[in-house]
Amino acid sequence: MSSLLDIDPQEFLSGLGRRPLWVSHHLVGHPLLSLKALGGLADSMRPERIERQRTDLDLVLPGGGNSRGGVESPGDLVRGIETSNSWVVLWNVENDPRYKALLDEILDPIAALLGDREGGMCRREAFIFVSSAASITPVHFDPEHNFLLQIDGVKQMHIGQFATATKGQRELERYYSGGHRNIEHMPEEADVFGLEPGRGVYVPSHAPHWVTNEGLACVSLSITFHTREILRRGNLHIINYHLRRLGLSPSPPDRSKVVDAVKLAIHRVARTARNLRKRIAESRRP
Ligand SMILES: [Fe+2]
Repeated sequence: MSSLLDIDPQEFLSGLGRRPLWVSHHLVGHPLLSLKALGGLADSMRPERIERQRTDLDLVLPGGGNSRGGVESPGDLVRGIETSNSWVVLWNVENDPRYKALLDEILDPIAALLGDREGGMCRREAFIFVSSAASITPVHFDPEHNFLLQIDGVKQMHIGQFATATKGQRELERYYSGGHRNIEHMPEEADVFGLEPGRGVYVPSHAPHWVTNEGLACVSLSITFHTREILRRGNLHIINYHLRRLGLSPSPPDRSKVVDAVKLAIHRVARTARNLRKRIAESRRP
């Protein structure tokens, strides 16, 4: 369906947001994805868009590792990844027009396939992972729908589910209220996707997962998108987080249209009031 990404359209639509799916792609050897090109990209990026972690992180690391930024000589780090005992994320590479064009080339056909489902595609973003051998990415979830495409090296992607709907709801409320993507517990079961160059996996939004790689340095391209439904439910999770802190037991999104509408109205009012306070404070600054 796309010249760069091969997926089964019916399988993708039926599994959207529900289950992972094998995909394949035609990006191996792409000139924008060589270590040399990625080193140059890293040197051109704003420091806060670059994250570096040690390879030997704990699998469960709820507070996360290093914050983004503060990486010295990021280009050298990327080009020398085979000996640097690190994994590196280049966040939001779509800020570079060349990578934005690549992102759109991959996602335009997916957006057409998606149509108005889940309110349609929005907020397209791309991230690049460059990892030394034996890197561990702790268990976490991402808000986005994600195509993780393996470009170089071999990586194991473990994708599970929250043990119960209640545990999942609490994690989402914590995350959307400013918490870390990393979660506190390993999923009880997980499917393992062994990714080699040319293979990839669709990871549903909010699915808990962790990543390991063996033997070789790895390069992976993460092509992601939101839908308007993800953003709507995210706002409901924020309201639920605050209601729970008041001692209430809020229902998860989509149980009641009326209740959801009231919560979203409260969220809009709270956001407007917050923005107003911010503007007043800024106008008073000397
Ligand atoms: Fe992830």
